[in-house]
Amino acid sequence: MLYSKQVINHFKKPHNQGSIKNADAVGEAGNPICGDVMKMYLKLSKNKKGQDIIKEVKFETLGCAAAIAVSSILTDMIKGKTLDYALKIKKDDIVKDLGGLPPAKIHCSMLGLEALKTAVDNRNK
Ligand code: FES
Repeated sequence: MLYSKQVINHFKKPHNQGSIKNADAVGEAGNPICGDVMKMYLKLSKNKKGQDIIKEVKFETLGCAAAIAVSSILTDMIKGKTLDYALKIKKDDIVKDLGGLPPAKIHCSMLGLEALKTAVDNRNK
C-alpha cells in the first residue's frame, strides 16, 4: 500500500496529539469493521461576531497510519476556525490535503469528521 508523503509525515509526527483537560466538547468515533477509534477534544471560545471558535483541539487515535494522519491534518484544518467552518469540511477535502489515500483507506477519512461531529453534538450536555 502506497501512502503519500503528507500521510507519512503526519503519521510519523502527528500534530495536536493528546487530550485537553476541561475540554468544552469531547467526541469519539470508531469503525466497527477495522476497530480503529478516535477521540477529539475541543476548547471553544467566541469571536467578535459571537461565533464559536475552536481555540484548541487535540486528538487520541488508536488506529492505522491513515487514521492518525487524518486526525492530525483535520485538527490542523479546524484549529482557530469557526465551528460552522469545521462542520462543513468534507472527507474529500481531507483526502485532497493528504495528497490522496489508497482506496481501501478512504473510510479512515470519515473517522475524524465523525469524532468532530460527535464532539459538537455532545457539547453542553
Ligand atoms: Fe479503519 Fe483506518 S483502517 S480507520
